[in-house]
Amino acid sequence: MSTNNIIRTINSLAEMRKFSIEQKGEGRTIALVPTMGALHEGHLSLIRMAGANADVVVVSIFVNPKQFGEGEDFNKYKSDLKGDMESVGKYNVDAVFIPSAEEIFPDGFQTYVEVTGLQDNLCGDFRPGHFRGVSTVVLKLFNIVLPELAVFGEKDYQQLKIIQRMVKDLNLSVSILSSPIVREESGLALSSRNEYLSDDEKSRASSIYRALSAVKESFKSGEKDVKTLVDIGVKILLSNNINQIDYLEIRDGETLGEVNKANSGNIVAIAARIGSARLIDNIKL
Ligand code: PAJ
Repeated sequence: MSTNNIIRTINSLAEMRKFSIEQKGEGRTIALVPTMGALHEGHLSLIRMAGANADVVVVSIFVNPKQFGEGEDFNKYKSDLKGDMESVGKYNVDAVFIPSAEEIFPDGFQTYVEVTGLQDNLCGDFRPGHFRGVSTVVLKLFNIVLPELAVFGEKDYQQLKIIQRMVKDLNLSVSILSSPIVREESGLALSSRNEYLSDDEKSRASSIYRALSAVKESFKSGEKDVKTLVDIGVKILLSNNINQIDYLEIRDGETLGEVNKANSGNIVAIAARIGSARLIDNIKL
């Protein structure tokens, strides 16, 4: 759909639904790109994928209070609506949906989606309640925007697997597309949370990707022992003064379950704290 870069901003749930129903009535398919704003090239790559696979692109911007735990960065999470509108203006985005927390989670709200199993390891161990907040808001966004497809980044690999599982388990009629991780030249995965890093922290943070790559290289050279591979990655993190490692794990690429021997298709996932930022990244073997 041609937009001439005039992007509709929609705040109310009723208006969002109405827009989507109208578009469908005219035979157009809708792609949703759920975000929490502060859009960077990673988000924009999802928007491009959405545009290539549907007639109408809706980007949602909602900093979801339900997915932040106590003491996490909800209150300082970066917001840049003006910059976001400029960024999406360069693409064929048809609507930006910016709902209020009051309308998404009104008083009395008490229904949650839990993808038990997948949500209860890796980041789930360190961020209790995080994924139930994610699944719940994503299901709500699907129900409000009514997209035929939605695009998620592989950067948040566990989130992607949880959403795919939720769609399957609840028979949702939305196709999930996944988009590769966009990185800085240094290898650092783009993230809104990179804003929290000083220059020195940022350069140390790029060792996360070096650690992932080293694990993959060793795997490709024939090393299959999980502990040996994990140690190779951890050593690189430690030598770059990254000591607060929540995890560095090699897991099954679908179930995220533990593996005895590393295999192709496994995922190497890291979560580490650097300064006030908690960064995550992953690579597929
Ligand atoms: P947010 O962190 O804003 O990310 C929105 C989408 O952008 C997610 O699908 C994420 O995986 C993707 N993304 C972020 N950085 C990326 C990168 N460097 N390369 C590729 N994709 C990247 O994830 C969320 O918001 C929220 O949990 C949300 C799904 C919106 C639910 O509240």
